[in-house]
Amino acid sequence: MTTPPPTAPRLEVDGLEVAFGGLTALGGVSFEVRDGETVALIGPNGAGKTTVFNAVCGIVKPRKGNVRIGGRPAPARTTGLLAAGVARTLQGLGLFERMTVLENVLVPLSSLRAEDAAARARDRLAELGLLDLADRSAGTLPYPERKRVALARALAADPRLLLLDEPAGGLGAADIEALAETVRRVAGEGCAVLLVEHHVDFVMDVADRIVVLDFGEVIAAGSPEEVRRDPAVEAAYLGLEAVNAAAEPPQSGGAGHPPARGGAPRPSTADISVATEAHAHRSEPQGPAGEGGTA
Ligand SMILES: Nc1ncnc2c1ncn2[C@@H]1O[C@H](COP(=O)(O)OP(=O)(O)OP(=O)(O)O)[C@@H](O)[C@H]1O
Ligand SMILES: [Mg+2]
Repeated sequence: MTTPPPTAPRLEVDGLEVAFGGLTALGGVSFEVRDGETVALIGPNGAGKTTVFNAVCGIVKPRKGNVRIGGRPAPARTTGLLAAGVARTLQGLGLFERMTVLENVLVPLSSLRAEDAAARARDRLAELGLLDLADRSAGTLPYPERKRVALARALAADPRLLLLDEPAGGLGAADIEALAETVRRVAGEGCAVLLVEHHVDFVMDVADRIVVLDFGEVIAAGSPEEVRRDPAVEAAYLGLEAVNAAAEPPQSGGAGHPPARGGAPRPSTADISVATEAHAHRSEPQGPAGEGGTA
């Protein structure tokens, strides 16, 4: 195997197409994330954000396109992700609820000697203020702590590429600020971070660049400021809501707003921070049913 050039992006997504039956979920998505960079992937419900993660992780097979990690083809299966330096948190929690916090964080460390794994896991727990909870069952913790356990588990294997799917979902302001500090620290240590998030204030705060998806297509990409001013983003993601909010009295459930692909409601207000709140409630604490481990 040839050695990749030292300047290769940590993640390259090139012309990615994914279809589910007759539904084209991704229609040729391209972007990259470099070491030490934080890139946010944003877009309305059903835009294809999680599908990008699933394609990067080998959970869904692209119809077309390439994913390269550190200059090499991404592993075809999730079992190769750890060795490729990739860790992920899920849109829900994905914790093993009956296992302790420490046991959850040990999951990606099974290849290490037991004492090394325990030391590493405890370090990660300490970094996220969870050490006192190490022996508690994950399922008994409040939601923000469970969310932090999922992050600690993703960080346990010292990833070079960290994929975070809605890490701020369901969190309050103080927890979001702590999360932002963690993301900055991890990126500052050289990890490439790709995060999907509806919480726009958080995205604007931590992202170096933003990629905007709508109906499986990249409609804008650039710095937070560039994206904020992009008319295509306003039209697809904010503008319609601004028009709707001006025309209608406040209402719940997003009725009357443009449906996302797959029928999920889009955020329903001009105020994106409020729209974010609405989304956060949709992604509220989930039970163990239907949740798997980290990819
Ligand atoms: N396994 C699947 N089988 C069939 N359709 C799917 C599957 N996964 C995703 N989809 C569809 O693909 C489209 C993109 O879904 P995806 O979950 O990637 O959106 P998203 O941008 O992450 O949305 P959200 O913000 O609501 O999480 C949606 O129409 C969804 O219904
Ligand atoms: Mg999603």
